[in-house]
Amino acid sequence: MAKARHLYLTALLMGYILGTSTIKTGQDVLQYVDPLIGSKDGGNAFAGASLPYGMAKAVADVDGQNTSGFSTDGSNVTGFSALHDAGTGGNPSLGNFPLFPQYCPEDVVEDCKFPKAVREVHYVNDSVVARPGYFALALENGIHAEMTTTEHAALFRFNFPPATASDGSDLSPLIMLDLTDLWNSRQNASISVDAQAGRIKANGTFLPSFGAGSYVSYFCADFAGAVVRDSGIWVNNRAGTEPQQLYVTRGFNNFYLQAGGFIRFNRPEDGTVTVRVGLSYVSTDQACKNAEKEIHRPLHDFDNIRKRAERAWRDKLSPISIQPGGATEDLQTSFWSGIYRTMLDPQDLTGENPLWQSDEPYFDSFYCIWDSFRAQHPFLTIVDPEAQSRMVRSLLDTYKHEGWLPDCRMSLCKGWTQGGSNADVVLTDAYIKNLTGIDWDTAYEAMVNNAENEPLEWSYEGRGGLQSWKRLNYIPYLDFDYLGFGTNSRSISRTVEYSYNDYCLATMAKALQKDDYVKYLGRAGNWQNLYKPDQISSINGTDTGFVGFFQPRYMNGTWGYQDPIACSALASWCSLTSNPSETFESSVWEYQFYVPHDMAALIDLLGGSDAFVSRLDFFHTSGLADMGNEPVFLTVYQYHYAGRPALSSHRAHTYIPSLFNSTAGGLPGNDDSGAMGAFAVFSMMGLFPNPGQDVYLIIPPFFEEVTITDPLTKKTATIRNINFDNTFENIYIQSATLNGHPYTKNWIGHGFFTEGMTLELVLGDQESDWGRGEKDLPPSLSQGFR
Ligand SMILES: *[C@@H]1O[C@H](CO)[C@@H](O)[C@H](O)[C@H]1NC(C)=O
Ligand SMILES: *[C@@H]1O[C@H](CO)[C@@H](O)[C@H](O)[C@H]1NC(C)=O
Ligand SMILES: *[C@@H]1O[C@H](CO)[C@@H](O)[C@H](O)[C@H]1NC(C)=O
Ligand SMILES: *[C@@H]1O[C@H](CO)[C@@H](O)[C@H](O)[C@H]1NC(C)=O
Ligand SMILES: *[C@@H]1O[C@H](CO)[C@@H](O)[C@H](O)[C@H]1NC(C)=O
Ligand SMILES: *[C@@H]1O[C@H](CO)[C@@H](O)[C@H](O)[C@H]1NC(C)=O
Ligand SMILES: *[C@@H]1O[C@H](CO)[C@@H](O)[C@H](O)[C@H]1NC(C)=O
Ligand SMILES: *[C@@H]1O[C@H](CO)[C@@H](O)[C@H](O)[C@H]1NC(C)=O
Ligand SMILES: *[C@@H]1O[C@H](CO)[C@@H](O)[C@H](O)[C@H]1NC(C)=O
Repeated sequence: MAKARHLYLTALLMGYILGTSTIKTGQDVLQYVDPLIGSKDGGNAFAGASLPYGMAKAVADVDGQNTSGFSTDGSNVTGFSALHDAGTGGNPSLGNFPLFPQYCPEDVVEDCKFPKAVREVHYVNDSVVARPGYFALALENGIHAEMTTTEHAALFRFNFPPATASDGSDLSPLIMLDLTDLWNSRQNASISVDAQAGRIKANGTFLPSFGAGSYVSYFCADFAGAVVRDSGIWVNNRAGTEPQQLYVTRGFNNFYLQAGGFIRFNRPEDGTVTVRVGLSYVSTDQACKNAEKEIHRPLHDFDNIRKRAERAWRDKLSPISIQPGGATEDLQTSFWSGIYRTMLDPQDLTGENPLWQSDEPYFDSFYCIWDSFRAQHPFLTIVDPEAQSRMVRSLLDTYKHEGWLPDCRMSLCKGWTQGGSNADVVLTDAYIKNLTGIDWDTAYEAMVNNAENEPLEWSYEGRGGLQSWKRLNYIPYLDFDYLGFGTNSRSISRTVEYSYNDYCLATMAKALQKDDYVKYLGRAGNWQNLYKPDQISSINGTDTGFVGFFQPRYMNGTWGYQDPIACSALASWCSLTSNPSETFESSVWEYQFYVPHDMAALIDLLGGSDAFVSRLDFFHTSGLADMGNEPVFLTVYQYHYAGRPALSSHRAHTYIPSLFNSTAGGLPGNDDSGAMGAFAVFSMMGLFPNPGQDVYLIIPPFFEEVTITDPLTKKTATIRNINFDNTFENIYIQSATLNGHPYTKNWIGHGFFTEGMTLELVLGDQESDWGRGEKDLPPSLSQGFR
């Protein structure tokens, strides 16, 4: 660390002396990545060491906000493990086979602290160092831990301070392994300790954190740097050095038994014991092989492994550069860290899928597509089209072998579906943005399967209520559905999402010259059937004045009722299991805006542009908008469709940096696999996608200039502000040019990136007429199908 800091200072000084601008003078962009953003107050960001899309994700696990392992909430460390998810909500994910270093009081193994609740210890707040590819902290007991990773292996370095027993003899460092995970979901597990080889092997069956079934994970740890003193097995708070193997299952009434193994060492002179952890979902042998292949002996090459991870991250961030133009370090840190977080999950598990044999890539931790289709996947399409294309191929291979596209998938299991079949949007987005290497016939087949065939279990695949969808043209309230089973709620949110999914399917059908596109275009209009023109909305008995909202509708056509503010922050939380309602995790107010393919028709229905703008303003200023959850994203930019792009810019600035910033609590909700990061990054880039369509809505970037080099075409796209001011008074576009020619449309297509165009925006401090004309608006279905 000391060395790195010295180099950094030198670069800074040189930049200063030469009088050059900040970020282009060889200053390391990784300095602007802070993995601790979102590490508390519900962001659930993964703060540890990982490669881009890496399966190995090493971090300290805590007993506080532990969904992704670690949190800066000051809680207790329960162990150090190397499988995690990033930014997810709900139950903690993975965290299998944690290691824990300690000294046994008076050197008596029996007196060591084995179960989580007994061994846990606070970390020293100021000791936490989180960098791309590296994580370290000190425990309050004086032991220091560092970690870095390769694709399928992690390298831990534990430093034990000198310690003696009351008789003056040296204490022996002990490192234990717990056959558990963050959630204590382990069903059964095995461990064997080989003291001679300095190796512990383990396997275990665990439960996915938001899905059905179970999965097996495998572990292989090699210890180095110290002479083994003894080893053994522990069960609850008892331990022995005789047995070296153990099988544990659930106890009486599914009681959770705590057990594992340990190795003790003679303390080496430098106090450091190194542990190489190999991981696999295929077998223990493969876990050991992964480790041997990726981290060679001797195991003290920690710094080179770390440097390799840093290079991988630098490479992934390299397509983008910015001229900050005086924008704060905080904004820059939020920007680069947001990009970084989009590349943690999904994880590349190619070669690690035990479920089927295939030459196709396998990615896991699509957690969940309901969150990630809106901004994360569109972002990867721009900066890492090759990875995005491999993810799409993995989705299609999953369809081939599991029979369905996932909406959510983690730990080799089917995850719960939250709304529509939104993988449809990911596939369509990839198609219209010309991603290559994808079998589009299979993609179409998989999407038709979602649209036409109802699975028995639509809680984790496909869609429910398809008989009603086809016959009544909406998802009814209290549907009679005997073909399949799922949580029979969310009739409104499912209707609007299925409508958009069918629009995407129509787009694919038309492109592939299938006549069925007409049928799917028809279904794309189904959202209109839940619009109740005379519905009003009151808050605390005061009429908001807005008339016309989506409402639940019975099978016989009669209207049901859901208060339009229900499921917002002004009322109560609604999810799949807690307070299930006709809208999922958000209100009728919020879903009212979800017609991404036909905003023109929606605006007409809601009384025209002015009425629409007032409604959108009210939504964003009344506490109804939930910036902490993904359905809100597009609403920040929908002013564009009413011919008011300036208001989208204004709105984005009300949320960034006030809700998206570089503090540890700087995310308004779960990062969800980088979804929040991608929202902030697209906003600061000045181009926001409407995924599934060839449309980016234009606002001025938050920096003087942003350039993006397409990794495939190598062409560089530039979006540049003229009259940029870092106090953000000038956030309104007065005029624009594209490649030097006047440009009045308030949106642009993906060719901007692939062909490397230059968009120059002249800014002012007042709304202008730019982008407001009828012909300047983004496309809407009712004005013609493209
Ligand atoms: C994970 O954190 C939750 C609190 O968020 C806590 O209740 C739980 O005990 C922690 N899990 C473990 C296994 O420590
Ligand atoms: C460490 O940080 C946590 C969370 O911010 C705080 O509650 C705790 O008091 C801090 N501990 C110390 C010793 O400063
Ligand atoms: C953290 O661990 C310490 C023991 O090291 C214990 O005293 C304390 O109660 C624990 N805190 C929590 C929140 O469990
Ligand atoms: C381990 O648990 C899984 C899941 O409960 C079960 O299917 C499997 O049979 C168990 N294996 C053994 C060896 O008990
Ligand atoms: C786990 O390891 C034990 C002991 O080597 C072995 O008997 C068992 O078959 C393994 N389980 C799995 C699922 O590989
Ligand atoms: C509604 O009234 C309650 C009780 O007076 C108050 O606490 C709450 O803030 C009000 N809500 C809104 C959205 O005005
Ligand atoms: C329609 O069905 C609902 C729910 O069963 C019922 O309450 C309502 O009276 C029915 N309406 C008509 C017109 O039959
Ligand atoms: C940073 O974002 C968080 C979470 O959205 C917010 O609570 C906090 O006020 C923001 N801090 C600053 C300094 O803007
Ligand atoms: C995709 O390729 C087609 C055919 O070559 C071309 O017409 C279209 O402009 C391309 N789209 C993008 C977004 O590059």
